[in-house]
Amino acid sequence: MSSNRVAVVPGSFDPPTRGHLDVIRRAGGLYDELHVLVVHNPDKHGMLPIEVRLRLLEESIAEERLPGRVVVGSWSSGLLVDYARDVGAGVLVKGIRSPQDVSYETPMAVVNNHLTGVETVFLLADPANSVVSSSLVRQVAALGGDVSPYVPGPVSAYLGSAERTLDE
Ligand code: PNS
Repeated sequence: MSSNRVAVVPGSFDPPTRGHLDVIRRAGGLYDELHVLVVHNPDKHGMLPIEVRLRLLEESIAEERLPGRVVVGSWSSGLLVDYARDVGAGVLVKGIRSPQDVSYETPMAVVNNHLTGVETVFLLADPANSVVSSSLVRQVAALGGDVSPYVPGPVSAYLGSAERTLDE
């Protein structure tokens, strides 16, 4: 039985941004248990390895001191709604920055609801984060710019560190 007190916050998180963390923090105030899920296609190579995304998410979420239980995991096979059902989550939470995000997310929300009855809850992004995206951060980082205004501290530290060069 799925519960509306358990929610999944899915994303690529490549890398996690301040916008992601704002949505996770606010979802943490609405639900008793959150599953922050790195959804990825094993055939597609992102900027950061999955285990690095997981570690950076865990470190960034720890800084938020959320009241409920938070599970950070990854998912690469099958339907997202199957993961949600397996963990007893009745809700998917998505952050919305723009009308384009609504257009992109709406068909997925409708189909996911048809598939298993899971509901999608849209949280409107803080306007301060409306231009922040992982792809923008990747571009700025690749060109040697300062990404610290757009990402949580652990992500900024990682992207600026020698460790990253070793991983790639
Ligand atoms: O961080 P992103 O890249 O915007 O994350 C996108 C993601 C993974 C959250 C989105 O693509 C998604 O929800 N994928 C799951 C697949 C799904 O639900 N498909 C609709 C049913 S077929």
